[in-house]
Amino acid sequence: MGRCPSCGEWNSVYPKEERRKREDVSPKFIPLEGVELKEDERLPLPSLEVTRVLGGGIVPGSLILLGGEPGIGKSTLLLQLVSWISKRGEKTLYVTAEETLSQVKLRGERLGLDDEGIYLLQETGIDSIIHQMELLNPFLTVIDSIQTVVLEELPSPPGTLTQVRESTSKLMEVAKARGITTILVGHVTKEGSIAGPKALEHMVDTVLQLEGERGLPYRVLRVLKNRFGPDMEMALLEMEENGLREVSDPSSFFLKERLKDVPGSVVIATIEGSKPMVLEIQALASPSTFGIPKRVMAGVDSNRAAFILAVIEKYVGIHMQSLDLFLNVPGGLRVSEPGADLGVLLALVSSFRNAPIFPDMALYGEVGLGGEVRSARGAIYRVREAIKQGFSQMVLPVTDAERVKNQEISRLIELKGVSTVKDALEISLDL
Ligand code: TYD
Ligand code: MG
Repeated sequence: MGRCPSCGEWNSVYPKEERRKREDVSPKFIPLEGVELKEDERLPLPSLEVTRVLGGGIVPGSLILLGGEPGIGKSTLLLQLVSWISKRGEKTLYVTAEETLSQVKLRGERLGLDDEGIYLLQETGIDSIIHQMELLNPFLTVIDSIQTVVLEELPSPPGTLTQVRESTSKLMEVAKARGITTILVGHVTKEGSIAGPKALEHMVDTVLQLEGERGLPYRVLRVLKNRFGPDMEMALLEMEENGLREVSDPSSFFLKERLKDVPGSVVIATIEGSKPMVLEIQALASPSTFGIPKRVMAGVDSNRAAFILAVIEKYVGIHMQSLDLFLNVPGGLRVSEPGADLGVLLALVSSFRNAPIFPDMALYGEVGLGGEVRSARGAIYRVREAIKQGFSQMVLPVTDAERVKNQEISRLIELKGVSTVKDALEISLDL
């Protein structure tokens, strides 16, 4: 055939075999340098901290999973988020599969939200939710929660792995096809895994987690994965009477009630994601009254603490096996980065020797198994934060100290580079 009967184009009809060959020979690859970047179309939010956590804002059409224990504030945060977005003139759909419409309305009133542009849907069936999403075509949909929605064609009950996975996959299709940003709420069990939704982490673009201690007002919004931005970011939020509010200066928040000159109290300059912070680590070493000595650790990694104890035994020569040991990060934050090691070590030794650390001193450093102090990332940001919070001396790994010494800011603080934990002890304990 010379002319295609359906589109009218000449010389476009080939025998099957030949067409495949022709397709195969035309190049589909493109040089990396020739890839054009799309305009950054992220939607920034009024909360600078939440915007930073998201790597600069919400990417339209992305699929986000927000995990957290029940009662931690996920629904509160998302209702606030939905209202921020609708204020910008974008339609939002809040699907409540757990609560009634009036419960959501009441929460909205408590938060003092302007409800224009926010649509609510009380529904648990996925097919029906998707149909409503297509009808409204919002910028953002919240599914609260993924464990309570069901795909009716599946025999298993809601919350099971199959249900959660298949529902997410269906929602992902609409989100991608229609460009509707979709946030899924996932309840996390006590063990810390998002029940079922742990299996969703590879399907979604971004995984956020809201953490905190019951009874304490602070919440940490943490990024566990982000295809569109840095992971390991975190922001500190505070739960108030009318919703979550960002804490833009966490250092002063964590230090405000610190007692100075108390043995066992150390101020570390740490970094979480891209956020430098100074905060306190407290240790208490006391003779064990009977039986197996207690080891209670809140806010620090117990594995790291265990090897720091081994380093203390071997290189400082203090035997702590028979002591009750308590470690805590007041305010309830969890520090997991290796730069906090030196703080844990000094806090323990300071409590054991009953000697305080100089109150105007901040410190950091990774501790190695040979008793050495190793450099940690972000030296300059840690030093800067310590200066900002009014500290006048800082103990840090010697290699980092050398690097920072050439910089202008080093004149604002006394930098004490150390290469071993012994050196660190000598210059920081106020004996
Ligand atoms: P919620 O968002 O319902 O938690 P989740 O969705 O993660 O289960 O938050 C519940 C808690 O937050 C509840 O104990 C009450 C408290 N809260 C406040 O302190 N201030 C507020 O403005 C709101 C809305 C809730
Ligand atoms: Mg909820």
